[in-house]
Amino acid sequence: ILVDWKPEMAKKGGYPHYMIKEIYEQPLALKSTFEGLISDETIIEAADLISKKDKIFIAAAGTSYHAGLVTKYFIEKITGRAVYTFISSEYKNIEYLVDNDTAIIVISQSGETIDTIKAMRSSKNRGGVIFAITNVIGSTIGREANYVVPMRAGPEIGVAATKTFLTQVLVGSMLAVNLGKSIGKINETEYNQMINTLSYSPNIVGSSISMTEGIMKKLPERFSSKNSIYFLGRGLGVPLAYEAALKMKEITYIHAEAYPAGESKHGPIALIEKDFPVFFVVTKDTYEEIASNIAEMNARDAYTIALASEEKLENLQPRLTITVPKVDLLLEPYSLIPPIQLLSYYTAVVRGLDPDKPRNLAKTVTVE
Ligand code: G6P
Repeated sequence: ILVDWKPEMAKKGGYPHYMIKEIYEQPLALKSTFEGLISDETIIEAADLISKKDKIFIAAAGTSYHAGLVTKYFIEKITGRAVYTFISSEYKNIEYLVDNDTAIIVISQSGETIDTIKAMRSSKNRGGVIFAITNVIGSTIGREANYVVPMRAGPEIGVAATKTFLTQVLVGSMLAVNLGKSIGKINETEYNQMINTLSYSPNIVGSSISMTEGIMKKLPERFSSKNSIYFLGRGLGVPLAYEAALKMKEITYIHAEAYPAGESKHGPIALIEKDFPVFFVVTKDTYEEIASNIAEMNARDAYTIALASEEKLENLQPRLTITVPKVDLLLEPYSLIPPIQLLSYYTAVVRGLDPDKPRNLAKTVTVE
């Protein structure tokens, strides 16, 4: 398999930064990912083989780890099988669990992250079968994995991952749907419906960007001088909140923390004071519980902001609601993530920072 990258794809093309260009490129990137996935049998074969294994692990670092958590969520939801997603650098603490009845899904945009390479090699040595999701087929991970599912996101220059996150999520979701079929948890009709749903991911990203861009340009003025922000979610909203906090801290240097919303009372709420910004990433099956988490933050005078589709909005009482497209659960990452990316981008710009070159960070970490 070859990835067809042209030199002009790696230029700014009139945008002030690569990061914003890559945010806008997401519909195109997802279209190419989706078309690639349905153009051959790679993902069907991968799912078939994974379904025969007793254990399913996912190894990744950084943003790719968050894509791994979303993939875990959908595999578990669709197949009913447990998945263990771990941070690559922790491989030594889990490698003893790997045997020849283990499938390890390795997610790496570059295919060169040293910790992920080590996790892959250690798992392979113990008899595990490696399925790589990568943007660079000729990379170390692309070459050494047993099976490779390409992301086809095109080159990503901005250090902060944007389009590669959602393309990884799309590959992971397609894998989950195919696993559901291989295991026999979903029938042909349900399978076709889910694949058809995922084919709308490019459109949803496009609508989400147009619905939220105006507010995301203005919002940073309100809290760009803050020292801390929380991002809270439940269910699928948890890994999306993790990704939001990572994006915010790496690009804006504002301390951002994410955790499952139900944990507030076990510690983090102690930090809340007047106007502390708390973002809620609200997925559709979590409205009721999130409403009470918003209320407990409002009671402490936090500045509560909900990212939510218009559905049942009257139950939520945040100080500000950012409305995203109303979609099926499978499509929620594509509707909730774009405003979060725009928020970090415009906050960095307001703070006079270069979002493409955050300090102390590298696009690809090849040292331990
Ligand atoms: C670095 C980058 C992140 C990326 C992570 C994993 O930390 O700054 O954006 O998510 O590496 O990279 P990979 O290429 O393995 O996905």
